[in-house]
Amino acid sequence: MNSRIEWVIESSRLVAGITSEFARTRPFDGLTIGTGIHLEPKTAGLLLALAAGGARVVATGNLNSTQQETVDYLLAHGIQVIGGPTSDPEVHDANLRAVLAAEPELLLDNGGDLFARYLENPYPGFIGGTEETTSGRTRLTPLRDRFTAPILVINDSPIKQFAENRHAVGQSVLESYLRLTNRSTQGKRVAVFGYGSCGEGVAANFRNSYAQVSVLEADPVKRLEACLDGFDVSDRASALSTADVIITVTGAVDVVTAADLPLFKSGAILMNAGHFPLEIDVPGILSHPDVTSVDQSSPGIETLTLADGRRVHLAARGHMVNLAGPAPLGNSIESMDLGFALQTRCLEAIARDAVAPNSTLVPVPRDIDERVASDFLATR
Ligand SMILES: NC(=O)c1ccc[n+]([C@@H]2O[C@H](COP(=O)([O-])OP(=O)(O)OC[C@H]3O[C@@H](n4cnc5c(N)ncnc54)[C@H](O)[C@@H]3O)[C@@H](O)[C@H]2O)c1
Repeated sequence: MNSRIEWVIESSRLVAGITSEFARTRPFDGLTIGTGIHLEPKTAGLLLALAAGGARVVATGNLNSTQQETVDYLLAHGIQVIGGPTSDPEVHDANLRAVLAAEPELLLDNGGDLFARYLENPYPGFIGGTEETTSGRTRLTPLRDRFTAPILVINDSPIKQFAENRHAVGQSVLESYLRLTNRSTQGKRVAVFGYGSCGEGVAANFRNSYAQVSVLEADPVKRLEACLDGFDVSDRASALSTADVIITVTGAVDVVTAADLPLFKSGAILMNAGHFPLEIDVPGILSHPDVTSVDQSSPGIETLTLADGRRVHLAARGHMVNLAGPAPLGNSIESMDLGFALQTRCLEAIARDAVAPNSTLVPVPRDIDERVASDFLATR
């Protein structure tokens, strides 16, 4: 074993089993699969499983999460990778369009980047695909009627909801906070924006690490749930003005903006765990006249000094903190193994014409959830 990628691939027992099976059954023979998902060690195993199933895989990453080591590994193993690490939206856009130029019959998307661009220039032969995340489903839902092929939403599998979003995101955001800041959690005040499945896990993991956690949630029903789960759900201003750590995980834009600058306590750390780097309005905050200087104070942490002398810290420039900071590990291998087993089985079902064409933006079929759950339990 000579790299972290091989450690991850060897530890992903479901995807390893599927890779061996696909090498025999070849569900993707003659098909091209275009992918736009984080290029990090866990996705390397996923893309190799698709290639083992006979696919020509044309891959690019997501904004600001591509790891060069993974790109090199994939290239060495016959995957066509477009581009490399970038935080430039224009470069990312060109990479996505280069994937679509291969006219893949199947798309594996994360955040709706590929599907949205496919609609700008549809091509014949497209038979459908998968969308990984909440933000992609939200973005594509208004476009649903324009698709004529199945798109299965991995996020909406109960397995993805509890195994990755609730359990793994919470744990990896806590791990990222510890790794980036090397600061404690005990007795710290943490404000978590969003109490969806990811926010629930983030709030629970910080509370389990002895932090005092407030939840800021737009939906009163979810706010009630957070309250009954024992979290402080008092008003936004008091949560923001006392928080040592402020975490956004909503899928929405401009959740924390320059208008909040007067509220932050000196020393507060801002982190985003939502998919798009738009939850904290970083450009608006950095260009605000009250921000007198911005310094790199530690890898992955920038410190903003305000005109009144307060100092506010920004992690990973507001990009997804568990995948964008220094030495990112992302979510646990087991959670991603489950999610990627769902991915491979869904793409297999579409390739085998086992999904109705009008199944656009629908959850993973129940038989696939049951199969993946049973297979995972059998590996234990
Ligand atoms: N970091 C990761 O590894 C990772 C993994 C999976 C998903 N995600 C991303 O995390 C985000 C959240 O995912 P989820 O599955 O929890 O979504 P969700 O839709 O289940 O929950 C989001 C919650 O945020 C609330 N919300 C929306 N706008 C808000 C605002 N302005 N203030 C406060 N609350 C607000 C909503 O009411 C909802 O309850 C998405 O962008 C998703 O793509 C990240």
